[in-house]
Amino acid sequence: MAVNVLFVDDEEYILKSLERACSDDDAIRPLMAGSAAMAMEILQKEEIAVIVSDHRMPSTTGTDLLRVARTISPDTVKILMTGYTDLPTVIEAINSCEVFRFIVKPWDNVGLLETIHEGINRYRMVQSLRRVDESVLRSLGQTIELKDRYTKGHCDRVASYALMIARSLKLPEDMVETIKHGSWLHDCGKIGIPESMLNFKGVLSPRDFEVIRKHPHWGAEVARKAELPKTVINIILHHHERFDGSGYPEGLAGEAIPLEARIVAVADTFDALTSNRPYHKAFNRPKALGILEQLKGCSLDPALVDLFLQRIDDGGDPE
Ligand SMILES: [Fe+2]
Ligand SMILES: [Fe+2]
Repeated sequence: MAVNVLFVDDEEYILKSLERACSDDDAIRPLMAGSAAMAMEILQKEEIAVIVSDHRMPSTTGTDLLRVARTISPDTVKILMTGYTDLPTVIEAINSCEVFRFIVKPWDNVGLLETIHEGINRYRMVQSLRRVDESVLRSLGQTIELKDRYTKGHCDRVASYALMIARSLKLPEDMVETIKHGSWLHDCGKIGIPESMLNFKGVLSPRDFEVIRKHPHWGAEVARKAELPKTVINIILHHHERFDGSGYPEGLAGEAIPLEARIVAVADTFDALTSNRPYHKAFNRPKALGILEQLKGCSLDPALVDLFLQRIDDGGDPE
């Protein structure tokens, strides 16, 4: 089903070539606005999934327009078109307008459509998370698995290991439920990462690694927008923190890392060790359990690892 994508530019010929670029794309219904005022009118009347705005326009700048768009239509994903040298604009846009991506002029059509599609995916994700129901949450987790072919079944397995730990801790049932949802969604921020990067076999360049490191933030932002419970947001935001404080995004250490995120970190790590990844082959179970033991106090909470090892030893099979 096509969604509305609004293009804003004061140059007629640019709007024309943007329209042409989308003409063969069934997922996009392009709407054109020659000024910020016209764009505002459209935003008030129509449901817009993605807005792509030029920055330099005569009456209002693109950042000003996107700032207003944020209040009129909060779920609309915002993309700004800028020239190369506009670094201050980029910074302002990130800080005040929640801009999803930048497109640098002149653009290439393949990259443009890819970025718009990522924006549409993100819009759809927020929309469906809002109507939260279990099957939707699970299938969203599985959508990420499709992007990253090494992680098939990962969400379900992480959820079952995490539930095993949560139940052993005798956490209240509603928290156990949200831990399950958070486990399914922990990597939902990967929706914004190009597949070529996720499936990369060698060592990532520092720049690409920086992009990968943003997925907890991107995911948490989506979950916040969808008003998901705090436990779910904590899992998405903090699943890459390490117990010794050397993780990301916030470098939290020890019990400063929310319990739910520490639980999912154990589950996530165990599943990563026991499945094939671009950078290593799956370890067998005893080897993986040995590595988990070594990670106690470094990346993982020692008490939770002990609990996990004990349950596995008891033959406590994940659900
Ligand atoms: Fe992750
Ligand atoms: Fe994961």
